[in-house]
Amino acid sequence: MTPNTNYQKLKESYLFHHIAQKTGKYLEENPGTKLYRMGIGDVSLPLAPAVITALHEAVDDQAKKATFHGYMPEVGDPELRELIRAFYGTRGVALDLDEVFVSSGASDELGDILDLFGPGQVSMIMEPAYPAYVDANIMTGNSVVHVPAGKENGFLPVPADGEKALAEARAAGEISGGPDLIYICSPNNPTGAVFTKEKLTAWVDWAKEKDAVIIFDAAYEAFIEEDLPHSIYEIPGAKECAVEICSLSKTAGFTGTRLGYTVIPKTLVRAGLALNPMWVRNRTTKTNGVSYIIQKGARAVFTDEGQKQIHQNIAVYKENGRVLTETFDRLGIWYTGGKNAPYIWIQCPGGDSWAFFDRLLHEVQVVGTPGEGFGACGEGYFRFSCFGSPEDTRVAADRLWLLLKEELGK
Ligand code: MLT
Repeated sequence: MTPNTNYQKLKESYLFHHIAQKTGKYLEENPGTKLYRMGIGDVSLPLAPAVITALHEAVDDQAKKATFHGYMPEVGDPELRELIRAFYGTRGVALDLDEVFVSSGASDELGDILDLFGPGQVSMIMEPAYPAYVDANIMTGNSVVHVPAGKENGFLPVPADGEKALAEARAAGEISGGPDLIYICSPNNPTGAVFTKEKLTAWVDWAKEKDAVIIFDAAYEAFIEEDLPHSIYEIPGAKECAVEICSLSKTAGFTGTRLGYTVIPKTLVRAGLALNPMWVRNRTTKTNGVSYIIQKGARAVFTDEGQKQIHQNIAVYKENGRVLTETFDRLGIWYTGGKNAPYIWIQCPGGDSWAFFDRLLHEVQVVGTPGEGFGACGEGYFRFSCFGSPEDTRVAADRLWLLLKEELGK
């Protein structure tokens, strides 16, 4: 027996685990020090009151014979699926109930979904990227082609960038076929850049032409405030080429509660095989669904009251973004994001993103995420999350100003 040797191709530890180890070591050496955490995108506000009420009710339901629930349907509670379907309707996207799958979160699903395609796929991943895309593909034995994004394309690559990356990978003998899968995250983690309708249309058209499938990560759609697409299905033709994966983690503070949803249109067919019934087969085999209690809590997110309350929390995170971007404006630091996304991606003073991480940790006790952790194209940049508490974000912004103002000539 040989374990999966693909694991040997991975970096020794996962980005956020590595950062947690570094901050843990710092705290061990400096006990009692307060850190201002703007690294991992973990929420700091409690769940919305409507969700808490629903969770309490669900616990009480489980205490009574008449309302007790055992196994839930593997693909999700029909009432919750209907609410998600109706939510897509408010975006102008018509779905059937059985095109919506409830999951335990987007990060789980982004890896699990690879089961639909089998090993040996050519996966195109725009870089800098959420590292789980890359790692999940490596674990599966897929070939990853990095599509570089940078300041010059506003961190929003176009299909011509994809063609070029494919040609280079072919020339280097790394791949022969492809593209098979194309990952798009918009609003983007880590850069906060958002694809316009025109730019997404170009990718949808290209994916269809190449017979590829887009894996669209919509985890940050609730942060969009301008007229930009929230869902890939707002683009004509996307139902024939895209899977969409979303989550309540950032939208409704479910990082520790865990619930997400995945959309697989019935019209998504490759080589004569429809992916939607394949995913039903997968889920009914590999999961027993999300717990009744959490699904009932999630239902409250999609009520009018729930929507109002989650948007109050999102407004708090957006205000954090404003506080941070105002500081970067005063310092004259270039950045993307922070407006339609909960991340701010700055050009890193000094250039070396891990050195900047260490400097912030040691000199002002502010924790961010080095751009290099999101791939080679991320070097020279640094990500701040807007999910911290408003108090911590203000202190961090003041500390960044005091640390950097002189060397940046302010
Ligand atoms: C991030 O910081 O990039 C995210 O919080 C990680 C995640 O969603 O798993």
